Amino acid sequence: MENKDIKRYTVTTALPYANGPVHIGHLAGVYVPADIYVRYLRANLRDVVFIGGSDEHGVPITIKARKEGVSPQDIVDKYHGIIKKSFEEFGISFDIYSRTSSPVHHQTASAFFKKLYDDDKFIVKTNEQYYDAENKMFLADRYIIGTCPHCGYEKAYGDQCESCGTSLNATDLINPKSAVSGNIPVMKETKHWYLPLDQYEPWLKKWIIEGHKNDWRPNVYGQCKSWIDSGLHPRAVTRDLDWGVKVPVEGAEGKVLYVWFDAPIGYISATKELTPDWEKYWKDKGSKLVHFIGKDNIVFHCIIFPAMLKAEGSYILPDNVPANEFLNLEGDKISTSRNWAVWLHEYLNDFPEKQDVLRYVLTANAPETKDNDFTWKDFQTRNNSELVGILGNFVNRALVLTQKYYHGIVPQRNELTNFDKTVLEEIKSFPQRISKALETYHFREALRELMNLARLGNKYLADTEPWKVVKTDEQRVMTIMNIALQIVGNIAVLGDVFLPFSMEKLRLMINQEKYSWDKAGDIDILIVGKQLNKPSLLFQQIEDKEVDYQVSKLMETKIKNELEAHPTKEAKENIQFDDFTKLDIRVGTIIEAEKVAKTKKLLKLMVDTGIDRRIVVSGIAEYYKPEDIIGKQVNILVNLAPKTLRGIESQGMILMAEDISGKLVFVEPSVQVKNGSEVK
Ligand code: MF3
Ligand code: ZN
Repeated sequence: MENKDIKRYTVTTALPYANGPVHIGHLAGVYVPADIYVRYLRANLRDVVFIGGSDEHGVPITIKARKEGVSPQDIVDKYHGIIKKSFEEFGISFDIYSRTSSPVHHQTASAFFKKLYDDDKFIVKTNEQYYDAENKMFLADRYIIGTCPHCGYEKAYGDQCESCGTSLNATDLINPKSAVSGNIPVMKETKHWYLPLDQYEPWLKKWIIEGHKNDWRPNVYGQCKSWIDSGLHPRAVTRDLDWGVKVPVEGAEGKVLYVWFDAPIGYISATKELTPDWEKYWKDKGSKLVHFIGKDNIVFHCIIFPAMLKAEGSYILPDNVPANEFLNLEGDKISTSRNWAVWLHEYLNDFPEKQDVLRYVLTANAPETKDNDFTWKDFQTRNNSELVGILGNFVNRALVLTQKYYHGIVPQRNELTNFDKTVLEEIKSFPQRISKALETYHFREALRELMNLARLGNKYLADTEPWKVVKTDEQRVMTIMNIALQIVGNIAVLGDVFLPFSMEKLRLMINQEKYSWDKAGDIDILIVGKQLNKPSLLFQQIEDKEVDYQVSKLMETKIKNELEAHPTKEAKENIQFDDFTKLDIRVGTIIEAEKVAKTKKLLKLMVDTGIDRRIVVSGIAEYYKPEDIIGKQVNILVNLAPKTLRGIESQGMILMAEDISGKLVFVEPSVQVKNGSEVK
């Protein structure tokens, strides 16, 4: 849509499942970029609704409830509260944050289904599905677990493999088992309603493949194209479950809407709850609908939900779906079940009032075009050298010098040098540079431009050196400080969309109200004679020990996970003392070590056993470098029958243990002992 044709904006954010708190991955992928976009639209006085809410249906929620022995409603009540609070605390400025268990939603989703049903948009199929006979339940979606036919991952779900990301049908799984009981399921007939996506294929081709080749992100477009190219099939939109929106037609007892059918309708229900005027945000062609989501949601928002809207007939379609890739944490995939995450509520305990630091880091490092990694080191560096070092430093210098020279009163500009003129022109160009990036969903770039404005300020002060000139040319210093202050005033306006908490602080310091973007680029934004308030620091250094603590928390999690993943083996069958004494174990010293050519795992060691010097081939090359182990004392089984490995005769075996990560480590005597000493 051309900008001039847009009357209003409907901005939605993926509804997080209310079965756990939210973490930095959620914030980076969806909510921070969406919030920046909406703050930008509002600052430009555009009509916008910003919609969020909790996704409270679906199998993971009922599984969690079963495990904890509480009701699904208890689960969603708890997490809806936690999630909503986290979003508020991080300044995600929803117009409404609703939930799909709300009556308005049930009624809206139900009516939506009924309309499609009445208009004959579904097909009905009866087929056999997995059933847990003991628990008398159909095993929909995540109630069934098995081996992924694509990648061999053994804990793939009936609807998706989380390891390779492929979306699956329960019957695709190899060795399927009930997630509730571990039982091997039986097949049982059941009837369901399907949305015949195949019928929408020609239309989707035209709309996406032809229509959005150039304005949708390549990752989004690419995923859609590959889905469409590989052929679309009818998709069941009902399930045999008791938690969800009841299917509102006859013959559907014990069935609910598939969570992915009801959840996106939640965007509509929430808008309804927000305003009686909701229809214009969803049905007027002048409204621009934008879905912010993570990449695992692309097919639902670009293919399935649009097909639903199209089938219904009266709704607009998304204009864009700026999906992000994933954010990893310290090199590993973020995972709720492995507790590998930075939880928002915990972050604020450890870094109170540092919401903007996280917003900044997650935007500067946003996974816009590829998966990215969040590390605490990078977090610290970006805070210390960018927020403190560039932005905070510039603002502080400008304000402190103004206090010092002019008691905080904005001085006038006198005669301008060419450099001054260029800088003033440059200030004027920033709103356009930032808005161009934001309008096209390039949030990292937009933030980089904001920082460039602060860089310009730093460079201007460094080059003009008012602290030196003040001794000789007062007129000149007034000009310099005036220009520096215009940069500060502009940062306060333009920065507000990214860093709302800090910019509020800054506005107090410079005594500036919250301006719209009409004011952005104004080089008299701080008028001559205006009294500014006493400045304080916008950002603080983050110390090594603060991030070291975060890393150590993660390491603890890693250790815990690894212990759980490699449980201690049970003791072997008893043996007699005589059996034990057959083993001749000695302490020896490694005196030579080298890699066995053309192997990854093998080292050839020369060991002084006290009895002799002998060669042992050991599978430890992945864990130890040859040069690091020379001189080490080890335990060696010396009466093991020799064995030839890669043409080398190995005479004995070095005893090793596994550390928590599965790495083999030497078992060493606690003090130096004589080679040949018996281990008994
Ligand atoms: N709950 C889903 C997830 O976390 C997202 C639902 S988005 C909506 O992946 F469109 F269904 F609302
Ligand atoms: Zn897989």
